[in-house]
Amino acid sequence: MFLIFLSCIHRKNMYQTLTFYHSFFRWLVLISLLFAIYRGAKGLMKKSAFGRNDNLIRHWTATIAHIQLIIGITLYSQSPPVKYFWANKTEAIKKLDVTFFALIHMMLMMTAIAVITVGSALAKRRLSNEAKFKTMLIWFVVALLIIFIAIPWPFSPLANRPYWR
Ligand code: HEM
Repeated sequence: MFLIFLSCIHRKNMYQTLTFYHSFFRWLVLISLLFAIYRGAKGLMKKSAFGRNDNLIRHWTATIAHIQLIIGITLYSQSPPVKYFWANKTEAIKKLDVTFFALIHMMLMMTAIAVITVGSALAKRRLSNEAKFKTMLIWFVVALLIIFIAIPWPFSPLANRPYWR
């Protein structure tokens, strides 16, 4: 219902609307992860207390990733390359651009979001300030690396999409 509403505002179809939001949310995912990593490294080096703001940043980084996951799954059900892949598996598997979205992008991104989820939950449960910062830092860095590889950047050797829709 909400998506139909957004499609109307954009005067575009559902697929274009989803692609726009999915492309836009990539930047929010990256910015929030980078900021959380910065806070993790700073807190660890300065041996500071894991305060309310650090906790909010941890929480929102995971939430933004989860929103992107929901948009991604919805887009997966609408995407022409993905539909083509599942309808023509033997032919499509030879085409990197199609296989990238149907399998590689989906699996890597789901792994990265699982890493963010586990890292965030573990950091929340750690008892010392140092352990909280360290857990957040390590798990979020791993997720960022996976996400960076799996984004279809204009310069990616796997698949290319614009920086902005
Ligand atoms: C952190 C998580 C993710 C990031 C940063 C991300 C980023 C992107 C970006 C930048 C694009 C190109 C958008 C464009 O065309 O301009 C894209 C496309 C796409 N993504 Fe994701 N994605 C994520 C997770 C997911 C997940 C979990 C799924 C599926 C379960 C998914 C499915 C797709 C599909 C189907 C396309 C479009 C293929 C087409 O061109 O039709 N993404 N993603």
